[in-house]
Amino acid sequence: MSNYISYFLVIFFLFFFPLHNLAQNNGRIATSSSIRATDESTPWLSPSNDFAFGFKKIEENKNEFLLCIWYAKIQETTIVWHANISNLVPQGSRLNLDSQRGLILSDPQGNTLWRSDLVFGNIDYGLMNDNGNFVVMGRNSNDPLWESFRNPTNTLLPNQTLERGNFLVSQKSQANFTQGRFYLRMLDNGNMVLVTQSVPSNMDYDDEYYNTQTSDSTNATNSGDKLVFEENGVMYVLKRNNQRQILTP
Ligand SMILES: *[C@@H]1O[C@H](CO)[C@@H](O)[C@H](O)[C@H]1NC(C)=O
Ligand SMILES: *[C@@H]1O[C@H](CO)[C@@H](O)[C@H](O)[C@H]1NC(C)=O
Ligand SMILES: *[C@@H]1O[C@H](CO)[C@@H](O)[C@H](O)[C@H]1NC(C)=O
Ligand SMILES: *[C@@H]1O[C@H](CO)[C@@H](O)[C@H](O)[C@H]1NC(C)=O
Repeated sequence: MSNYISYFLVIFFLFFFPLHNLAQNNGRIATSSSIRATDESTPWLSPSNDFAFGFKKIEENKNEFLLCIWYAKIQETTIVWHANISNLVPQGSRLNLDSQRGLILSDPQGNTLWRSDLVFGNIDYGLMNDNGNFVVMGRNSNDPLWESFRNPTNTLLPNQTLERGNFLVSQKSQANFTQGRFYLRMLDNGNMVLVTQSVPSNMDYDDEYYNTQTSDSTNATNSGDKLVFEENGVMYVLKRNNQRQILTP
């Protein structure tokens, strides 16, 4: 009988407790969850608490917030993704994970300021991953409907890739998160380039100051496919023939 009880206790402490703790924060966000932009708002945390998704005040003396993802364990604010809108949002704005439309950011009057640009569908849940990627999962597919990693801003995190057609762009200034002048683009032809664009309405870029030369116009299989940033710090262009051109030897 007492053996039976110890067995039960061992199961209870070793198995049930950790499971119970995990259930507290597995990074999953249920649909209809929301966060309000206030000084006290609690962000959505990844299981390790390394990354947080929510509202951050950029200037202490202003009641304006940025919807963003940041490193939650380091003191100095380090934003790794932000919603692509030209102005910070007022206090009382709300982020909601809608079961049909995904992430919706609205002002206190309920006007939509930004939303995750995704295929409409039945949304199952959101997930703040330990690698910094926030994903929106659908009910009918194992592939995310939306990912912050596929909608990058000015930062590439370890394990993140940049697909052809996508780009990183610098922010205007420290407190202004609109698009600035400097672009890192993974072009459709397979080249990764660093370019400037001074006038946003210009179709063309002013100046190209770096080019990986990973485009082969005579044979596309030798051209670049995507930019990869590995966990160990190595960055390379992965070609369609699986060869790598290392950029950070
Ligand atoms: C961000 O917003 C600007 C201005 O609306 C737009 O031109 C640009 O394409 C957007 N960037 C991305 C990556 O969607
Ligand atoms: C990168 O990916 C590998 C393999 O999936 C994983 O083991 C590792 O924890 C990831 N690293 C980061 C920083 O996310
Ligand atoms: C940020 O810069 C953009 C473009 O110059 C401007 O339209 C916007 O008003 C600025 N936002 C703030 C908060 O200063
Ligand atoms: C393209 O290059 C690959 C080697 O990377 C080669 O195997 C293939 O035959 C080439 N295709 C053509 C049409 O030349």
